[in-house]
Amino acid sequence: MPAGFPEHLREEIERYLAGMRFSEEPGTRGLEEAMRYSLLAGGKRIRPVLALATARTVGLAQQEALPLAGAIELIHTYSLIHDDLPAMDDDELRRGAPTCHVKFGEDVAILAGDGLYAEAFRHLLSSRRSAPERVLAAAAELAAATGVDGMVGGQYADVKAGSADGPAALRRLHELKTGRLIGACVLCVLLLSGIQDTAQTTPFRRFAAELGVLFQIVDDILDVTGTDDALGKPRGSDERHGKRTYVSEFGIERAKQLAAESHATARAALAEVAARSHEGGATAELEGITDFIYTRTS
Ligand code: IPE
Ligand code: IPE
Ligand code: MG
Ligand code: MG
Ligand code: MG
Repeated sequence: MPAGFPEHLREEIERYLAGMRFSEEPGTRGLEEAMRYSLLAGGKRIRPVLALATARTVGLAQQEALPLAGAIELIHTYSLIHDDLPAMDDDELRRGAPTCHVKFGEDVAILAGDGLYAEAFRHLLSSRRSAPERVLAAAAELAAATGVDGMVGGQYADVKAGSADGPAALRRLHELKTGRLIGACVLCVLLLSGIQDTAQTTPFRRFAAELGVLFQIVDDILDVTGTDDALGKPRGSDERHGKRTYVSEFGIERAKQLAAESHATARAALAEVAARSHEGGATAELEGITDFIYTRTS
């Protein structure tokens, strides 16, 4: 039976995000409204929950991990707002509600994404809950994971035909587009914790990398097998735009098999994390997240 998703961590981050404010300036109230509209529209919160669960596994206090977890969800939300824009995936439904540009206009949606990205780093870098050099290391990893060698580079490969063909190139696209930010949820926590022992970090890295790819394979499958209602976003967006996905590359049955293999690989890496952990190996919540990412329907 799959382990359960740690709902108590989801509630924790939901409260934390709801408490976030970005400005008291009357002139930018509409911008803040658009940012908070998309942020609080009810995502699954997988990334910040993954960061908090990793913190629990390595013994980092939740108070230290929360600013990072919040920053990650801000960045993820920005990426969704921009991903949905007419010039990108041109989607009108997100998190069960009209997309940011449908609700507030394209100009405001672009700025809301820009604002969330900058506010994420402001939040993380000014939180002062951990030693400055650790915060800096985590911030550098988060920037790298979302930059050209990470999410934005992956989004570029996604929108531009002409990226190299073949399964290896597709996996690489997924590693960049989705994998690196999901990986950063784990790796940034290790950096915040000051853990440098490679015997301990190596299995975490393997786990984090595989989990990101698993997430996007399942996302590609759900784009075909899901429903708008369950997904909270339009089914069939990939096909409409001729996107290269695990389903277009391998067909639905093989894509499901590859998801199963990726899930098994991620679980094996996690077992290794538990075996090497100095903190007693409390990985049940990470197991729950891994199983949820594999079996989710939304
Ligand atoms: C969707 O991410 C975007 C991808 C990277 C595929 P999620 O499925 O985590 O979206 P929310 O946060 O729950 O809305
Ligand atoms: C988007 O991938 C990944 C991001 C970096 C936002 P998708 O385009 O597949 O995400 P969905 O399916 O719209 O959520
Ligand atoms: Mg996209
Ligand atoms: Mg999209
Ligand atoms: Mg998708």
